[in-house]
Amino acid sequence: MRSKTPACVYTRRRNSKSISSAAIFALAALAAAALVVGAQHPSVALAKGGADDGGAAGVGGGGNGLASLKTVAIPRPTNLARFIKDEQAAIALGKALFWDQQVGSDGQSCASCHFHAGADSRSKNQLDPGLRAVPPDPTFQLGGPNFQLKASDFPLHKLANPNDRNSAVLFDTNDIVSSQGVRNITFTNVIVGNTTDAGISIPDPIFSVNGVNVRRVEPRNTPTMINAVFNFRNFWDGRARNEFNGVDPIGNLDPGAKVLRVAAPGQAPQLVSLIDGSHPELALNNSSLASQAVGPPLSDFEMSFAGRTFVLLGRKMVAARALGLQHVAPDDSALGSVSAAPGTGLKSKYDVMIRAAIQSEWWDSSSVIQINPDGSLTILPAGAAAAQNRFSMMEVNFSLIWGLSVQEYMASLVSDNSRVDQFLEGNRSALTAQEQRGMGIFTGKGQCSKCHGGAETTAASVSNVQAKGLVSDDSDTGFFNTGVRRINDDLGIGASIGPLNLPLSAGNPARAQGAFKAPGLRNVELTGPYMHNGGMATLEQVVDFYSRGGDFAKENAAVLSDRIKNLGLSAEDKAALVAFLKALTDERVRLDQAPFDHPELFVPNGSIGNANTVLADGTGNSVQDTLRIPAVGRNGVRVATPNFLE
Ligand code: HEC
Ligand code: HEC
Repeated sequence: MRSKTPACVYTRRRNSKSISSAAIFALAALAAAALVVGAQHPSVALAKGGADDGGAAGVGGGGNGLASLKTVAIPRPTNLARFIKDEQAAIALGKALFWDQQVGSDGQSCASCHFHAGADSRSKNQLDPGLRAVPPDPTFQLGGPNFQLKASDFPLHKLANPNDRNSAVLFDTNDIVSSQGVRNITFTNVIVGNTTDAGISIPDPIFSVNGVNVRRVEPRNTPTMINAVFNFRNFWDGRARNEFNGVDPIGNLDPGAKVLRVAAPGQAPQLVSLIDGSHPELALNNSSLASQAVGPPLSDFEMSFAGRTFVLLGRKMVAARALGLQHVAPDDSALGSVSAAPGTGLKSKYDVMIRAAIQSEWWDSSSVIQINPDGSLTILPAGAAAAQNRFSMMEVNFSLIWGLSVQEYMASLVSDNSRVDQFLEGNRSALTAQEQRGMGIFTGKGQCSKCHGGAETTAASVSNVQAKGLVSDDSDTGFFNTGVRRINDDLGIGASIGPLNLPLSAGNPARAQGAFKAPGLRNVELTGPYMHNGGMATLEQVVDFYSRGGDFAKENAAVLSDRIKNLGLSAEDKAALVAFLKALTDERVRLDQAPFDHPELFVPNGSIGNANTVLADGTGNSVQDTLRIPAVGRNGVRVATPNFLE
């Protein structure tokens, strides 16, 4: 369905320097950048055996490592109450922020890429040329910008015989199937009361059709955030750290990150580090989702015109009425009681919701905070005159408030009631004979549960890291090189990041080259395309990939997991394994039932036109095609929305 997109307001005038240097936490922009910063060339002296082990067999109950997810406690920060005043209020705040299109510079919310079972099912303008490659590859081999993907394009590594990894390669590309975000626009300012930020459109050498810009596309496929609370670290490369620094995704890899705190009521706020050990009682553990959540809002590939700061996003959002552009069902499981239905949005503004959800230590001050051109702060007394570079404490701490509340919402998205869960709880009729046989292959000769083990179906889980340590067998627990792509197409957790260019890997960086987080597999039926490159469209293609022993086994031999080898699965084995994977679906996720219900959403779906020609809007940009996803309340929908290319 197509509907009108709100007109964009781009001022041509550059804004005063003081605002663009209002980057109090300038490092946040760095960490949020979609491209690898300072990724080093992979070492050639690699140890054999690679990023293997850390398998979870035996963990989480049952000899085969599988168990109902209901047996696992949801990992939460030990000192949550220091930050969260009211959990229900924080979930409501986080849900509103996650779905709110006012957050992006031009209408992108978190949900814009996470609306279908927590992942993205769009198939037009979803190609990236391979910008994570070393060096970045700006050329498309398949389609190009605004291309409409089709089933026959997959898998992206096509073999003459899908059962033989050494057979002739019919087609191969390092293009990535992912999600469209923002266009190439330089940020100038937020306009309070306006959804769209002010910015200057820049011709995009990569994401344009005949010189007309389309939305840029991420260089890695979009995973689901449902059950992501169980991951010790998040993102494919684990850069969303378990410890939250309050500012950016990379935790203690950014030692300078600080937030404001009022130590005692009435006192002036002071900068404090949550990660340097000076205040151990404030250190946030099990907060990978908060770390993750502060990345996209400033990313100029995901949600933001280039150069926006969290403080300015705070200025825009604190004053905004929650979900002002979108309808919210009156029976929404978290937001129904405050829905303004039949009008749009919620009844309250975000500042009211923040006061209800977050401990006052983190926002309650009448001081006026001035951000100086060098990024330092001057705390002025209450009543100091307003100015462009003067903010409230709530605005200055918006990254902390955002991360904590969006984490609260995502932590509430646990799907633990698939038929596999029911079977493992003792309901022997929950799985068919074929699905049970598939489970036997998953935990047996397929060796799948060695890496997708435990109740969480991933060795990268909090429980497995607690059991084995962050590093096991010299490698990052739960991260593996499985030969999906060549190492230089994407270094994965083998890369370095941040202001100090520190390695992401906690283990031996040489053994981390091209290793990725083993994803949890619940609802995997709904979340295609698959793998960090989105290179496989169906679970049949995934199972073929494992059965033949991966795609780049030879090239990656030095670091490839030992478990990636020819499994010789029969057609019957493969069908059974796929049937088992599909039994991991929780019907509440398929049908958007509580807690997976949601507000209305308008999602960009490519530009009007095709890969050869697009409709231009006269400002250098193309006219977006828009998909409307209606609001749904706690009882969900009757008919599920289609999966990728279905
Ligand atoms: C433009 C599309 C886009 C938007 C908008 C977006 N994401 Fe994502 N999301 C992605 C992609 C792509 C990845 C994988 C990136 C990577 O691993 O390097 C991802 C990864 C994640 C993950 C990690 C899951 C895992 O298993 O590692 C979570 C959680 C998540 N996003 C939540 C969010 C939240 C919260 C927001 C808003 C603050 C958001 N996303 C906005 C595309 C998007
Ligand atoms: C050596 C560890 C390992 C083994 C063994 C393994 N996997 Fe994986 N699996 C991974 C990693 C790592 C990824 C992500 C790889 C990437 O994107 O490059 C992955 C990705 C997947 C995905 C894609 C999920 C998504 O959301 O994109 C599926 C499905 C999957 N594996 C199923 C299986 C099955 C079925 C088996 C057994 C036949 C298996 N895996 C064996 C580590 C493993």
